[in-house]
Amino acid sequence: MRHFLTLADYSKDEILEILTLAKQIKDETKARVFKDYMPKKTLGMIFEKSSTRTRVSFETGIYQLGGIGLFLSSNDIQLGRGEPMSDTSRVISRMVDMVMIRTFEHSKIEEFAKYSKVPVINGLTTEYHPVQLMADYMTIQEAGLTEDLVAAYVGDGNNMAHSWLNLAAKLGFELRIATPKGYEVDASILAKSLEMAKLSGAKITITNDPKEAVKGATVVTTDTWVSMGQESEKEKRVKDFAGYMVDAEMMKLAQDKAIFLHCLPAYRGYEVSEEVMESKQSLIFEEAENRLHAQKGVMVWLDRKRDEA
Ligand code: CP
Ligand code: NVA
Repeated sequence: MRHFLTLADYSKDEILEILTLAKQIKDETKARVFKDYMPKKTLGMIFEKSSTRTRVSFETGIYQLGGIGLFLSSNDIQLGRGEPMSDTSRVISRMVDMVMIRTFEHSKIEEFAKYSKVPVINGLTTEYHPVQLMADYMTIQEAGLTEDLVAAYVGDGNNMAHSWLNLAAKLGFELRIATPKGYEVDASILAKSLEMAKLSGAKITITNDPKEAVKGATVVTTDTWVSMGQESEKEKRVKDFAGYMVDAEMMKLAQDKAIFLHCLPAYRGYEVSEEVMESKQSLIFEEAENRLHAQKGVMVWLDRKRDEA
């Protein structure tokens, strides 16, 4: 049985296999063909943070696969009143077939997975957002930009930056990350990614200069400067991130064929300009839709692995 906690746990072949499956199911869905890949299966969805895309993609996804999703807000289940993760896991995983969790510290999802009888999917932790990167790479594939891919991530060294690091390190493409001083990516996640990059041939550059990162890139991406849980730091962060907005001028430094991606929600006038969000280069809504398809790929793949075990 496998969990889906970080992309670092997956090989290049596995990531591409999941995406091929996702694409196949996407094509079927577009043709309004809904096959029961996971009949009568239940997906428990535990949310300790807000969500639009993750909730809707997993809940719709499991339904279209023949199963059902249970939305479990931590405000409504005993977890929010202090029931331990280990107990929550041992109870819920005896009743459902798969669990998706959105939480704070990554160690919490590891704790849940350790006690779980069923596959656990990371729907975002403070450190990682792997399911988002599956949708992002699917969008890059569809845009025909996987050859000689040069991705530039401009902004906070957060969960999105870390999952980009993992993806590049596994798939072997060039990734440049530009953050302000003091907002760099986690040193140990970077070190592990650089280690994996030796095997894949990925070229990873870390800088404090957004222009250097974006120059000649084929994918430009960013994320909010204020992640969930950091709301009290907003004023300081907005000051510290001055000069890091992805605007039309910055996009001009990228290749003409470059696309703009953002996991959303986006804050226009902060990490990205309105103009870039609404430009032809922006594939943000294709990317958001691909959450549905990519998440189905992840669920069906994990379900099959569990059956094989
Ligand atoms: N990108 C993303 O995970 O969005 P939600 O927070 O709306 O789920
Ligand atoms: N970095 C953001 C991503 C939201 C999808 C956060 O963690 O809030």
